[in-house]
Amino acid sequence: MRHLTRIFDLTTEEVKHLLERALRLKEAFKFGRPRRTLKGKVLGLLFEKPSTRTRVSFEAGMQKLGGSTIFMSRNDLQLSRGEPLKDTARVLSRYVDALVVRTFGQEVVQELARWASIPIINGLSDKHHPCQGLSDVMTVMEKKGDPGRLKVAWVGDGNNVAHSWIEMAARLGFELVLACPEGYDPDPEILAEARSTGKGHLEIVRDPREAVKGADVINTDVWASMGQEEEAEKRKQVFFPYQVNSDLLRYAKPDAIVLHCLPAHRGEEITEEVLEGPQSVVWDQAENKMWLHMAVLEWLIAG
Ligand code: CP
Ligand code: NVA
Repeated sequence: MRHLTRIFDLTTEEVKHLLERALRLKEAFKFGRPRRTLKGKVLGLLFEKPSTRTRVSFEAGMQKLGGSTIFMSRNDLQLSRGEPLKDTARVLSRYVDALVVRTFGQEVVQELARWASIPIINGLSDKHHPCQGLSDVMTVMEKKGDPGRLKVAWVGDGNNVAHSWIEMAARLGFELVLACPEGYDPDPEILAEARSTGKGHLEIVRDPREAVKGADVINTDVWASMGQEEEAEKRKQVFFPYQVNSDLLRYAKPDAIVLHCLPAHRGEEITEEVLEGPQSVVWDQAENKMWLHMAVLEWLIAG
């Protein structure tokens, strides 16, 4: 049984397959050649945090492929009254063909994967957002071609999305320079594991200009992730020098693209001018989540 709990669950070949399949599905549907490869299959979604893109793109993608979906918020389930995860995993495995989970601890995703007899897909945890890492790189490929030749800058928090990007850099072998304030670096274990693959070039710097210098891709995310609301005010002070604005963009290549997984906080991690500007690709990036999720669902459910 295969799961997608983090990027490192996938080999380089599998990452490439999913990216190529997603691009092909997008093209096929746009040219009026829909695929119904998941007809009769049911996708469950178990979410403990809010979601616009991940939820709706998984549900829409599943339906485009001929399948159907059941959305469950934690509070709707007996899980909220103490039913163990291992029981929930085994019961849901009897009803649905795969389960997307959005939760806090990565250990929740791992525990479900351990007990389920269906594929478990991490739709964001505090540690990883693998589907985001995959669909973001799909957008980069669409706009810039082979990521292996590119310099990617990550500006801001060393968070879940950053971790998935680190693992993508190790799988595909591209340069990723992360500018994070001291105390907000990516998880050292994830970084060490990625570096031990010997693929990709991973660097942590303090100065966002150094990360962005000569970059082809600039990527940022919120300063306070879901679950960190109490730290938001403190983080605003710490992260202010890490705003992606037009001054910072001047250090990148003139044709650099700007990514943000959304939702964005205009005036915090990114300015309105950059988010709505000509270098921003965030709407295509949001769309591509759906095509990539469709590739993941096909691969995990239909094989
Ligand atoms: N990018 C992303 O995961 O967005 P949602 O929180 O809306 O799903
Ligand atoms: N890092 C953000 C991503 C939201 C899609 C969070 O976890 O809230």
